[in-house]
Amino acid sequence: MDTQITSAKERLSPVWTHLTQIVVERAEGCCLYDEAGQRYLDFTSGIGVTNTGHCHPRVVAAVQEQAARLLHGQANIVFHPPMLRLVEELRTVVPAPLDTFFFSNSGAEAVEAAVKLARQATGRTNIIVFQGSFHGRTVGTMSMTTSKTVYRVGYQPLMPGVFVAPYPYRYRYGWSDEETVEFCLRELEHLLLSQTAPEETAAIVVEPVLGEGGYVVPPPGFLEGLRRVCDEHGILLVADEVQSGFGRTGKFFAHEHFGVTPDILVMAKGLASGLPLSGIAAPADLMARWLPGSHGGTYGGNAVACAAAVATVQVIHDEGLLENTVERGAQLVAGLEQLQAEHDAIGEVRGLGLMVAVEFSGADGHHGKDFATAVQQACLAENLLLLTCGTYGNVIRWIPPLVVTAEEIDEALDIFGRAVAALRQ
Ligand SMILES: Cc1ncc(COP(=O)(O)O)c(C=O)c1O
Repeated sequence: MDTQITSAKERLSPVWTHLTQIVVERAEGCCLYDEAGQRYLDFTSGIGVTNTGHCHPRVVAAVQEQAARLLHGQANIVFHPPMLRLVEELRTVVPAPLDTFFFSNSGAEAVEAAVKLARQATGRTNIIVFQGSFHGRTVGTMSMTTSKTVYRVGYQPLMPGVFVAPYPYRYRYGWSDEETVEFCLRELEHLLLSQTAPEETAAIVVEPVLGEGGYVVPPPGFLEGLRRVCDEHGILLVADEVQSGFGRTGKFFAHEHFGVTPDILVMAKGLASGLPLSGIAAPADLMARWLPGSHGGTYGGNAVACAAAVATVQVIHDEGLLENTVERGAQLVAGLEQLQAEHDAIGEVRGLGLMVAVEFSGADGHHGKDFATAVQQACLAENLLLLTCGTYGNVIRWIPPLVVTAEEIDEALDIFGRAVAALRQ
């Protein structure tokens, strides 16, 4: 079997990088188990997907029950109960004006859907994104992604009509919150005067908390400023909550922290606890401007995935996962801040809920990518899975399932603290 696995692994395209060589046999809550029964603490949540924990029993039961009834009910041909139920569930958690939905499979597909809707509805061509953004890997969304050149190298030329404004990454600029927000909003206005005229700009697409670009929380005033600019110029505000949604930040969606309602909300990842499902929500009058038949897909809104999503929303409510996210997030940040006080390699600890980052700075005060990678590997050696992020690769992101316990947070902090201390010697 081992040689079979080795040779099968070699038959997978090298375009897939691999953080580990673990072959997962089963998973539960925050833990993965390999065939030898080894336990791994998964603080990656499969890149922010398993918010309800791996294989939550209610999600599994919903999937099993639906699988025995109907696997595929194509959305252009029939309606199916799980999608209709999901619409009702989502209406309890998305802002009330965003009352109409379109479903697809991946985050990138949903971002593409938002862009297509925005272009068709406004009759405008251009899109503004932000420095450090990650919106996906299709040709369109790759063109909107600026977190790392690796996502576009060798694939250019990109989709035209995408313009990039600065994101308020306070730590990188080294300014105060106010200075950073003022600079970013001024540069956005400059972009609208110098490169993409408002009457040609369909949408501003923003991650309410920057994900792959470094887990950056925008200071107060930024999203409010974007809303103002959009309202002034008739531009649509699109919130890409693929990573920051479904309870990750302690609220159902991260934009709620800022009191700003987007025109289009993009969701995926945590939506269906591991089944491929994504979607956009927008007001009915905006959706009505989307030409019937001009967008769609074979699998979008799959019946089993929708059943998993219905259970996911219910579990987040019924099990108080937002409250747990706030409490465990505070515990995690407090533990990391304590380590920051002990180790000057930790430049900043930041985050909302359980979307938390540790940004390292190297001995020369510069980006500590090698150090971040070494810490990540040292944690892996102790069966703790952590991901890095950020343009410089010097940020460790903490993104455990929202069911994480106080003991699991302590266990992870302990492993991480030992790794940092050992590597600083
Ligand atoms: C904010 C954001 N948008 C879009 C995507 C793309 O999602 P997917 O990989 O499902 O296409 C991601 C994936 O990490 C993301 O974090």
